[in-house]
Amino acid sequence: MASKKISLTGIKPTSGPHLGNYLGAIRPAIESSRDPAIEGFYFIADHHALNSVQNAVTFKKNVYEIAATWMALGLDLEKNHLYRQSDIPEILELTVMLSCFTSKGLMNRAHSYKASVDNNLQAKKDPDWGVNMGLFNYPILMSADILAFKAQVVPVGPDQVQHLEMARDIAQCFNSNYKKDIFVLPEAQIQEVGLIPGLDGRKMSSSYNNFILMFESEKRLKKVINKIATDSTAPEEPKDPENSVIFTLFKEFANEQQVQNFRTQFLQGISWGEAKAQLFEVVNAELKGPREKFEDLMANPSKVEEALERGRDQVRPQVKEYLREIKECAGFYQR
Ligand code: TRP
Repeated sequence: MASKKISLTGIKPTSGPHLGNYLGAIRPAIESSRDPAIEGFYFIADHHALNSVQNAVTFKKNVYEIAATWMALGLDLEKNHLYRQSDIPEILELTVMLSCFTSKGLMNRAHSYKASVDNNLQAKKDPDWGVNMGLFNYPILMSADILAFKAQVVPVGPDQVQHLEMARDIAQCFNSNYKKDIFVLPEAQIQEVGLIPGLDGRKMSSSYNNFILMFESEKRLKKVINKIATDSTAPEEPKDPENSVIFTLFKEFANEQQVQNFRTQFLQGISWGEAKAQLFEVVNAELKGPREKFEDLMANPSKVEEALERGRDQVRPQVKEYLREIKECAGFYQR
């Protein structure tokens, strides 16, 4: 039997999962996890979140919410692995080793670090104001996440492509130093999902606070959808579906027939209130079942904990063994 392709995805628990995460990353990953030719590694990148989430209660809650989300959506845990990054401390050991093969110049060019520096310069602050080493070293930790599992493909959004290139650079630097193909070079698999707009029309993101959480109660979901910014076009006036946040989100949840009907209603004139009510219906229809499972899991965190422990026990031994090989290659003393 041909061996399966190893695909690996990490989600940073910086907020509860929102519709942008769901449509852009989680839903496509759940689909590909059903592909028999793929062995999927799905993990909660908790160490990555620590540079921005520094409240212990929120941190813990976010981690459980992300894990419960994957479980509630029916990730097949027979064929795939769900684990927590911090449960595999070997990843951190590998991070330290990789940092010695990463030039500082490479990290200076990382988009998210550069964006912080640019913001500081514009605000006439010290360039490194508010930048911690967790942010600066972020791409090295992410490289360790990927390389530790010999991942061949990493499904990512366009914003993460540079990190994948860095992982390849770092792996190559190590391989060529020891003249050994010890690391597998990962490929980015760029997700073809269009931009998912948030309440204010900008990209839905936890940094803009414009998101709709996946598992709001029905009542809250209705309320939040009602907050989507709209213009003052009168109810009976025709509306442009293409430039509407409501229509863009609707398309992601509805079937073709529903989308056609909705488009016709826009062109003929639909009130924003009615459009929002219809958006609520399609979102709710898709997420109602998973929401019930999610609520059950959040009320019984030991079920989530058990799944994460099982995931850890499935994957940690292979990483331990691999780290031994890597250390051997670099000449470390091994017990
Ligand atoms: N950096 C990713 C993000 O912000 C999360 C992440 C951490 C990740 N480690 C990873 C993604 C490894 C893919 C592979 O979305």
